[in-house]
Amino acid sequence: TTPILRQRADLRGVTAEWRRAGERVAVVPTMGALHEGHLSLVKAARAAADRVIVTIFVNPRQFNNAQDLESYPRTEQEDARKLAPFSVDALYVPDLDQVYPDGFSTNISVSGVSEGLCGANRPGHFDGVATVVTKLFLQTGADLAFFGEKDFQQLQVVTRLARDLDVPVQVTGCPTVREADGLALSSRNLRLSARARGIAPALFAAMSAAAGRIAAGAPVASELDRAKAEILKAGFAEVEYLELRAEDGLAPLPALTAPARLLAAAWLDGVRLIDNIPAAPA
Ligand code: PAJ
Repeated sequence: TTPILRQRADLRGVTAEWRRAGERVAVVPTMGALHEGHLSLVKAARAAADRVIVTIFVNPRQFNNAQDLESYPRTEQEDARKLAPFSVDALYVPDLDQVYPDGFSTNISVSGVSEGLCGANRPGHFDGVATVVTKLFLQTGADLAFFGEKDFQQLQVVTRLARDLDVPVQVTGCPTVREADGLALSSRNLRLSARARGIAPALFAAMSAAAGRIAAGAPVASELDRAKAEILKAGFAEVEYLELRAEDGLAPLPALTAPARLLAAAWLDGVRLIDNIPAAPA
């Protein structure tokens, strides 16, 4: 089974050896509770690099409330078992003090792409993500890093910070893995009641229909309104946002004048679901 490392020094020991041998190292950062979405990143990493590090760290700095942090699933043994078929070279599960030593006072804040969308209703969330991901890049010294398009804004934040801070890592985004009915895989899906699970695919369905009509030339604002109405009609309690943004940099797009993403967050059964899909001009 995969060796689990909990201390920076132990991680550095193995990565130093790999680097001496000239091997290319990939990292897949996660918070555990692994599903097929995470495993698709591991697979991509395995195909691209000589060595693969998977990290599991439930990062307190990116949670907005203590309750959410407390209830986040922790399934380390099961995660390790799911990774076994991929021959991951190291599973880095750092102790809290290995990431945030006493007196930790540095914050990485990426302006622009962190604002709006998920950044609007989750204050400090992307600072928390940017800070921990920077630390994981530096601790692993990875040449390659794999993130899911599922969290498209996060992917933009991470890509930007690597570029801005000259972190010598190549960030790759991987397509969202979905259930057969279109629902994007997420550890949060397990919190849905059976009834809500039946409603959940309506988010992706409404977004896909809107993206198709927008790509065919329909006006953006009215299509967004229509999709929001469809999502609510299906049984969602609230649409937190549904917006068209530029694929590169996430600037708001009042019309489909550049390659774009339709991004949404919506509440169902007390669970916050997010999704996004491309919308390319014809
Ligand atoms: P977590 O939610 O565990 O996700 C880890 C990685 O898996 C992220 O890059 C995420 O985009 C990707 N992922 C999740 N669901 C996916 C799906 N259905 N298809 C494809 N990829 C999917 O995102 C985080 O953790 C944290 O914010 C982290 C980056 C680890 C920093 O703490």
